[in-house]
Amino acid sequence: MTDTPAAYDPAADRNDYGLKDKVAFVTGATSGLGRQFSLALARAGCHVVVSGRRRERLDALVREVEALGVRAMALPLDVNNTQAVRDAVVQAERTLGPIWVLVNNSGVALTKRIVDITPEDYDWLMDTNLKAAFFMAQSVARHMIDGKRQGRIINIASIGAFKPLGQGSIYSMSKAAVVQMTKAMALEWARYGINVNAICPGYIRTEMNADWFDSEIGQRQMQAFPRRRIGRDTDLNGLLLLLASEGSQFITGSAMVADDGQLLA
Ligand SMILES: NC(=O)c1ccc[n+]([C@@H]2O[C@H](COP(=O)([O-])OP(=O)(O)OC[C@H]3O[C@@H](n4cnc5c(N)ncnc54)[C@H](OP(=O)(O)O)[C@@H]3O)[C@@H](O)[C@H]2O)c1
Repeated sequence: MTDTPAAYDPAADRNDYGLKDKVAFVTGATSGLGRQFSLALARAGCHVVVSGRRRERLDALVREVEALGVRAMALPLDVNNTQAVRDAVVQAERTLGPIWVLVNNSGVALTKRIVDITPEDYDWLMDTNLKAAFFMAQSVARHMIDGKRQGRIINIASIGAFKPLGQGSIYSMSKAAVVQMTKAMALEWARYGINVNAICPGYIRTEMNADWFDSEIGQRQMQAFPRRRIGRDTDLNGLLLLLASEGSQFITGSAMVADDGQLLA
């Protein structure tokens, strides 16, 4: 008789991936993927700086992270404020210690036809998804380099980097640039032992797209994917932990697609 293996539950994964007592900084931790990345890193033993603009959500997450037996810090931050980003990194290191891994996750999306996009739309999206991610990574890497410390930077891109998403032109453009930024940073910082990689997720149900996938047209899109589903916010935790860990020492400059085969459809 063969035993049926229990379904894998990412929320119960207690492998520590060599991350015990390392410090992680997660942007966009107030919802969706960033919230789950924070919890996954905490379960693996990291002390976690959680950042985003919504203070009450950060405070609630800090309590959840601390309940996992590690230290946590809520850092309210608008990533579009470059000086605030620099200050946040200093403050985080003063409180929790040297950052080992940055998860550059905050981001926004816009569904609009190209003919309707305004310069304000363009700047808001590009600034948040690309410029802010650039200066966030720069700030953390400067500390790593000055402190002669190795580390990991994980940029959250999208499958939109490889295929323009419907009415998502500037979003897709921003994520393609995040992939190229990842490679440029990996190249420049290889000599310092800082590994920089991008995760390119397919559609995962979060606040960013829940309304869309609840709509009839969104449901039709989902039915066209090879597995007729979209992801759960915990589905990227395994890849995130691999890239955050020392075990990814030979991986840098990669843009890893995690999309359940959606790009194949
Ligand atoms: N869900 C998907 O299907 C999917 C697919 C591919 C890639 N992604 C990428 O995954 C990342 C996370 O998205 P998600 O799906 O988890 O969406 P989400 O639930 O909407 O989360 C976005 C996060 O970004 C933060 N954020 C936005 N603007 C910010 C700003 N100016 N300053 C600081 N934080 C800001 C938000 O926090 P506050 O509002 O509290 O500031 C929030 O925590 C994004 O980069 C997204 O592009 C998502």
